[in-house]
Amino acid sequence: MTVPWVVKYRPRTLDEVENQEDVKDELRGWIESWLKGKPTTNAVLLYGPPGTGKTTLALALANSYGLELIEMNASDSRNLSSIRGVAERASITGSLFGEKGKLIFLDEVDGIQPKQDYGAISAMLEVLKNTKFPVIMAANDPWNPNLRDLRNAVKMIEVKRLGKIALRRLLKRICTNEKVKCEDKAIDALIEASDGDARYSINFLQSIAEGYGEVTEKLVSELVKRKERELDPFETIRNVFWARFGWQAKQAVSNSQVEYDLLMRWISENIPVQYDSIYDVWRAYDALARASIFLTRAKLSSWDMLSYTFDLMGPGVAMAEIGKKSQTWKAKWKKYQFPTLVQQLYRSKKTREIRDEIIGKIGRKLHSSSSKVYNDVFPLFVVIASADKESIQKSLGLTQEEIDFMESIQGSQVSEETRERSAGTSRSSSTRSSTRSSRTRKS
Ligand SMILES: Nc1ncnc2c1ncn2[C@@H]1O[C@H](COP(=O)(O)OP(=O)(O)OP(=O)(O)O)[C@@H](O)[C@H]1O
Ligand SMILES: [Mg+2]
Repeated sequence: MTVPWVVKYRPRTLDEVENQEDVKDELRGWIESWLKGKPTTNAVLLYGPPGTGKTTLALALANSYGLELIEMNASDSRNLSSIRGVAERASITGSLFGEKGKLIFLDEVDGIQPKQDYGAISAMLEVLKNTKFPVIMAANDPWNPNLRDLRNAVKMIEVKRLGKIALRRLLKRICTNEKVKCEDKAIDALIEASDGDARYSINFLQSIAEGYGEVTEKLVSELVKRKERELDPFETIRNVFWARFGWQAKQAVSNSQVEYDLLMRWISENIPVQYDSIYDVWRAYDALARASIFLTRAKLSSWDMLSYTFDLMGPGVAMAEIGKKSQTWKAKWKKYQFPTLVQQLYRSKKTREIRDEIIGKIGRKLHSSSSKVYNDVFPLFVVIASADKESIQKSLGLTQEEIDFMESIQGSQVSEETRERSAGTSRSSSTRSSTRSSRTRKS
């Protein structure tokens, strides 16, 4: 199984966290006040946009000061008893094992839904008031009115978007480490698109690198649309497959700007990638098939049906994995595939572009038009390239990609026939072959 790079390259200590110097200083001052026995405040709340290092900072803080982390994702657990559990552990002084201090971490507190998680917020306030250990919390959007009391009980620390220089350093280090060929301009494009979100840029980098073996500016700009980050299909399907609860999956599909039909292709292509159990796969496809029926109905009769489509292709697909009901379930990182259709479109477009580039180069050498080169001499060049790659590459000034392309089509029909034609073998007189050569000539 591939390790997600966001995990592999997650900073372990505060020093390794890029940017966020003010935040690090505040955290150090705060935790040291606790260690001196004179806490400035019981709890801090890190808030800011996604992928800027809030969770990372909390983990790194614990590591840097050798604290045991008592962790809870507030939106995941969504139940009072687990908050109470944390509260109990928080109120006990000392640890069973030695002198190690503790740091209590409540992640994603803005995910609490006061109606469904009745009492959760007051339970958390209770923790804050009586805690014997420092409490650190994180949220994207702490301005929800429901969180007002919580806000008043903590010190708020803003975590800003990551700067371009920091992001570039981060991405370049990963490329070097993973030995991935990465154009500088591709990194620039990724940074532009990610809007200071390190998780997004790293996930995208990994998806492209694993999907295509290299990261080029062209690939990035084709796959990423700036300011339309929700368009990113990888992110959407990951959010669907990794959703623990139905509502998370529904949110993922309804927030996604990927066109419905295309999103279905993405999900369809990746169901067997994500799910290991054949029964999960079956349930997921069953839900997706129904989603597709409702989509057709929505288009034909009433757009109200779209809501069912979302329910089925989001929660329906997400909840197909029965293992999610278990407390110990963990999301599995998978290398998602591009839908075959998208892949084919991309390949044929790219292939054509490379071919035309080579034809242009031959044409300039021979003072000949592209169509003449294509119809008359290109196949010959392909054959010659198979015999003497170096001299063809040198005389035409071909890039590695171009010479690789010529090599890759050597076994194809064109070159086979050309070889026959140029060698004047008897086989070329057979009807099958001659009709084929005339077709090649015309195309
Ligand atoms: N400041 C940073 N320095 C280095 N890597 C970072 C930084 N911020 C984020 N990352 C990378 O991005 C990944 C995601 O970051 P993290 O989970 O800390 O974001 P977050 O702010 O908690 O996001 P969310 O609001 O979605 O929970 C990390 O695993 C790490 O690889
Ligand atoms: Mg986080």
